[in-house]
Amino acid sequence: MLPASVSIDPAFVVGPVRRRTFGSFVEHLGRCVYTGIHDPDHPSADADGFRGDVVELTRELGISTVRYPGGNFLSGYRWEDGIGPAADRPRRLDLAWHSTEPNLVGVDEFMRWATRAGVEPMMAVNLGTRGIAEALELLEYCNVSGGTEWSDRRRANGAEDPYRVKMWCLGNEMDGPWQIGHKTAAEYGRLATETARAMRMIDPDLELVVCGSSNSQMPTFGAWEHTVLTEAYEHVDHVSAHAYYYEDDGDLASFLASAVDMDHFIESVAATADAVRAAGKHSKRINISFDEWNVWYQRRAESRPPSGDDWPVAPVLLEDRYNVADAVVVGNLLISLLRRTDRVHAASLAQLVNVIAPIMTDPGGRIWKQTIFHPFALTSRHAVGDVLRLAIDSPTSDTARFGEVPVLDAVATHDAATGEVAVFVVNRSLADDVALDVDLRALPGLRVIEALTLANPDHTWAATADDDTSVVPRPNTTARVADGRLRATLAPVSWSVLRLGPTA
Ligand code: AHR
Repeated sequence: MLPASVSIDPAFVVGPVRRRTFGSFVEHLGRCVYTGIHDPDHPSADADGFRGDVVELTRELGISTVRYPGGNFLSGYRWEDGIGPAADRPRRLDLAWHSTEPNLVGVDEFMRWATRAGVEPMMAVNLGTRGIAEALELLEYCNVSGGTEWSDRRRANGAEDPYRVKMWCLGNEMDGPWQIGHKTAAEYGRLATETARAMRMIDPDLELVVCGSSNSQMPTFGAWEHTVLTEAYEHVDHVSAHAYYYEDDGDLASFLASAVDMDHFIESVAATADAVRAAGKHSKRINISFDEWNVWYQRRAESRPPSGDDWPVAPVLLEDRYNVADAVVVGNLLISLLRRTDRVHAASLAQLVNVIAPIMTDPGGRIWKQTIFHPFALTSRHAVGDVLRLAIDSPTSDTARFGEVPVLDAVATHDAATGEVAVFVVNRSLADDVALDVDLRALPGLRVIEALTLANPDHTWAATADDDTSVVPRPNTTARVADGRLRATLAPVSWSVLRLGPTA
């Protein structure tokens, strides 16, 4: 048993819990859209062909925003292919995923789906094969009331009121050589700036996200952000960060410590943005939209797009099956994002359905939850109020990738209105229980409302369509408050939420 202690004080506020931290991502990729959210043959499908059971699980997952329509797909996409009568829409080659795009779902269908799912749409404009003019036309289509060509086209297509989309991404991963229309930082910085300036001429209140790095291992990481922000600083609000560099490649100890990498990533991007702020004598701060993150087994066959003459519609792609250890890492990555709520103002778990996703569907059939569904849903539900800065005293363990890392990682939220506290905590030890001791002296009179732990003696257990319930978060009966301290035993390779509230 390893001892670890945490002190919580409601005076040490990092910042508010931001609902946008619990965003997700729907890309025209594999089976995320077709046979994912959209499956007209499914018994629960609505008039648009959207599965009702996917909408229900999206709500249960607690998703706030959904980024759309890509991803790498975005950089070859003509948005106007996806409007008007479905029978008249062209089928196109999707070069990013070597697939055929049938354009049965486009911006109008997506907006209707977003309304049903109760999520805020976060749109992206193609700055790969297209530019300022097409971005402006899409913005006019979405946000102008009427009386112009594109806004009247929207009304003719059934949406009288504008969609008023607030958040817009200026392209996707433009630093990546794999991206269609990939650019240097200087080229992209200019294009993003001019696109942002023009978009704000239509709608000055937009929140604009400029592309940061595709991952922290990119050779241009840091320099890219510096160059792009030096150009675009006054015209954008957020810089994006993407991270998928997390998979169990046989080194479980390093994998479980993946949040150390995310912490470092956030710190580096924030520091770079602040350096540009200082040098440019800007007063506002640029914050981070961590708009693609997850565990992703990129070397698995499912991640390889088709090739040659095979251009299928909605092929099986990136359909990772997540186990208990993956869920612990996802829960820990969310801890990392919340901990930096001062700088991470939005985030999107990539993706929502079938493609590296918490929700899986059989075409026309069953729906089921992957292990990663649970820590996400529980964090989204119970992280309320302010994020608190914790003092953590944890034993460490050695990892090949990150050196010495704390075994225990945690974040806590405090809802001043109800007095409730939620502690989200992982035990990253491979073999040892942790005896957690939380000092609550600054928060007298609390009791345990609920304590749940996700763990399994076999951390490789993964949910399937046949069984997605035999390993789920279970009550942790060791959690107790006495003498101003919360004590709980945390199993190895586990994620937990410990909820406290005032005694009646
Ligand atoms: O989410 C899968 C892909 O990962 C996205 O299309 C791209 O933006 C990223 O590289």
